[in-house]
Amino acid sequence: MRTRSISPIVVVLFLMLVAVSSGTAANKKKQYKPCKELVLYFHDIIYNGKNAGNATSAIVGGPEGTNKTLMAGQFHFGNVVAFDDPITLDNNLHSKPVGRAQGFYIYDTKNTFTAWLGFSFVLNTTDYQGTINFIGADPILVKTRDISVVGGTGDFFMHRGIATLSTDSFEGEVYFRLRVDIKFYECW
Ligand SMILES: *[C@@H]1O[C@H](CO)[C@@H](O)[C@H](O)[C@H]1NC(C)=O
Ligand SMILES: *[C@@H]1O[C@H](CO)[C@@H](O)[C@H](O)[C@H]1NC(C)=O
Ligand SMILES: *[C@@H]1O[C@H](CO)[C@@H](O)[C@H](O)[C@H]1NC(C)=O
Repeated sequence: MRTRSISPIVVVLFLMLVAVSSGTAANKKKQYKPCKELVLYFHDIIYNGKNAGNATSAIVGGPEGTNKTLMAGQFHFGNVVAFDDPITLDNNLHSKPVGRAQGFYIYDTKNTFTAWLGFSFVLNTTDYQGTINFIGADPILVKTRDISVVGGTGDFFMHRGIATLSTDSFEGEVYFRLRVDIKFYECW
């Protein structure tokens, strides 16, 4: 009799445990689906003292004694670059731009190439009008890197998500092109 009176409690506890653990498993498996996706490219041509005609970005800071036409040694650590880069729908620098990528990056690791990005996509086309704001760490040498899409305005009012960056092209220390795969998980 005594053991019988305990067993319902044990059964209830057991069921609760099962419910909790299966809930956790379900959360782990959950696949979030983007509410909107956008793939865009932007092109960065760094000013090197000779390309004023087409440069879209400039070294604006660096370690003591920095030469603003040359990236610093030690993995460019300390260099700050401001940019106003054209955004295109495909990977061609000469395609008609759909907006500008504007902001800065700062090289922030002494023993490998990484940057910290803070920038906006300013879009003004018949398809999209508004801004998308990005921040995050960019381990440049990794094939794909995720940064945060922290918000937006206009057509991207209150949007948030993740942007996957990949270096689509890299030519010396003067030109690079990033593919930006934007997945919004919050749309309004
Ligand atoms: C920028 O202009 C220079 C000089 O005209 C040219 O040599 C260079 O290829 C151009 N850079 C890009 C990325 O088009
Ligand atoms: C920066 O380096 C370049 C290339 O060596 C040189 O031509 C230029 O005079 C330097 N600029 C300054 C401000 O030292
Ligand atoms: C967007 O483009 C239109 C047409 O060129 C222009 O009148 C308008 O000022 C632009 N808006 C912004 C925010 O740049």
